[in-house]
Amino acid sequence: MPSRILRKRKLIPGATSELVISAPHIAAKAKPGNFVILRVWEDGERIPLTIADADPDAGTITLVYLVMGKTTAHLETLDAGDDILDLCGPLGKATEIHKLDGPVICVGGGTGIAAMHHIAKGHHMAGNQVVTIIGARCEDLLLFHDELCSFCPEVLVATNDGSCGRQGLVTDLLVERLENDKTVAEVVAIGPVPMMRAVAEATKPFGVKTTVSLNSIMVDGIGMCGACRVSVGGQTRFACVDGPEFDGHAVDFTELAARLTAFKDQERLSYEEFKK
Ligand code: FES
Repeated sequence: MPSRILRKRKLIPGATSELVISAPHIAAKAKPGNFVILRVWEDGERIPLTIADADPDAGTITLVYLVMGKTTAHLETLDAGDDILDLCGPLGKATEIHKLDGPVICVGGGTGIAAMHHIAKGHHMAGNQVVTIIGARCEDLLLFHDELCSFCPEVLVATNDGSCGRQGLVTDLLVERLENDKTVAEVVAIGPVPMMRAVAEATKPFGVKTTVSLNSIMVDGIGMCGACRVSVGGQTRFACVDGPEFDGHAVDFTELAARLTAFKDQERLSYEEFKK
């Protein structure tokens, strides 16, 4: 069923946008950590996007995407008033959120910051002390800073060029925090695979529970096709139904990175054709 785009906000012109979409049935059930699968045109591929926010009263969900290929470039041509051909969700297991004995540190990079925002908000509403750490190459590429500051008292920022917050990586801030605070109950990381891998490696010596949200290639999103399979603790799991969140210390990130680039050449050709 088509879903109407109500608002569009260009977060990083030409690269990243936010859509607020009318989807009352999804908004009524969406929890932090859930995702949707959408298709933009009749012969288009199906892509997963994590829900960045949901408003059950307004019947809307918020999605944030990076323009990185044909489908997201096509999505970027749509505006408020246009319809997304079909939108399926909420999918995946919701984030396990319960009252924790210590702070939860939510780490986000790239468009993963938007998805992390929904989880951080969920922890905040559950009464947990939330610390967020976000990172980007420079200040202009930082997403959801104001949104996080609206509810989270501690928003730590790392940029590669030092234009905002600390110059360096999110893991620098994370390790510093873990060294100075032995009460941290959990770390959640969402972003590019190298960032999630680095976060998991950083937290391992501290023995802190670390959850990552995996952005595998997906087709059906309901556990039938096997496209999203990942290795976790030596076992094959399906990110769409067993995840997308898993124990970061058990994920085979090397395999995940290889699977994500398996169709790189075809994706590049398709994108180049689209841009002509
Ligand atoms: Fe098909 Fe997960 S997307 S099994």
